[in-house]
Amino acid sequence: MVKLPRPIPDAVRAAQARASNPAASAFVSANAGSGKTHVLVQRVIRLLLDGVPPEKILCITFTKAAAANMAERVFTTLGHWVTLDDGPLDTAIREAGVAHPNARLRKTARELFASALETPGGLKVQTIHALCTRLLQQFPFEANVPARFAVLDDRDQTEMMERANLKVFLEASRDPQSATGQALLTAMASQIGPEAGRPAARRPGSCRQRAGR
Ligand SMILES: Nc1ncnc2c1ncn2[C@@H]1O[C@H](COP(=O)(O)OP(=O)(O)OP(=O)(O)O)[C@@H](O)[C@H]1O
Ligand SMILES: [Mg+2]
Repeated sequence: MVKLPRPIPDAVRAAQARASNPAASAFVSANAGSGKTHVLVQRVIRLLLDGVPPEKILCITFTKAAAANMAERVFTTLGHWVTLDDGPLDTAIREAGVAHPNARLRKTARELFASALETPGGLKVQTIHALCTRLLQQFPFEANVPARFAVLDDRDQTEMMERANLKVFLEASRDPQSATGQALLTAMASQIGPEAGRPAARRPGSCRQRAGR
């Protein structure tokens, strides 16, 4: 059986339209799955409809998945608008929160997909980490970081961490009386626990096993 989408209450649509109004400075806090990303996408599309150049818009997310999801939704919506006739396009523009679509707005709406895609350095939807990296790369002297620095990828990070761990373990085992050596012994003792030294037959599990036979 095909499950129909749940109707969105008018009050929710009105609140979403208020939050996505480019003229308003808004902070949205809402439950999981309640439409926060939808509102952000609406807002980006309304900014573009207002004539804001795509390269002037920056959307920041925390995860790469969220950035990809948001960019995909913006481009899917704009790509869909290119295919719509006047009536359905007016409805779609109204649903995006613009009350009174007209011929000029429909023309703009149909051009958005190409302009957002084609503008060099166009619409930016990226993680906060990517933004910070870009800023540091643009202003290395101001930030006092090496020019042209590179960010380690996950594999390089793991390798570096493993090398550092190994170095500490070797130092600790070379000199058990040193601070690192003592720390290693303490860590090993706490991992192994007081059971470690006892003969197997005396452990509670072993007794139970024998009694069960
Ligand atoms: N006004 C609306 N019209 C149509 N669909 C909507 C509307 N508001 C929300 N939805 C749909 O509801 C679903 C959940 O919305 P969305 O992903 O934006 O929520 P979210 O709050 O960002 O979720 P999460 O907390 O998981 O990030 C999506 O499929 C979205 O398209
Ligand atoms: Mg979301």
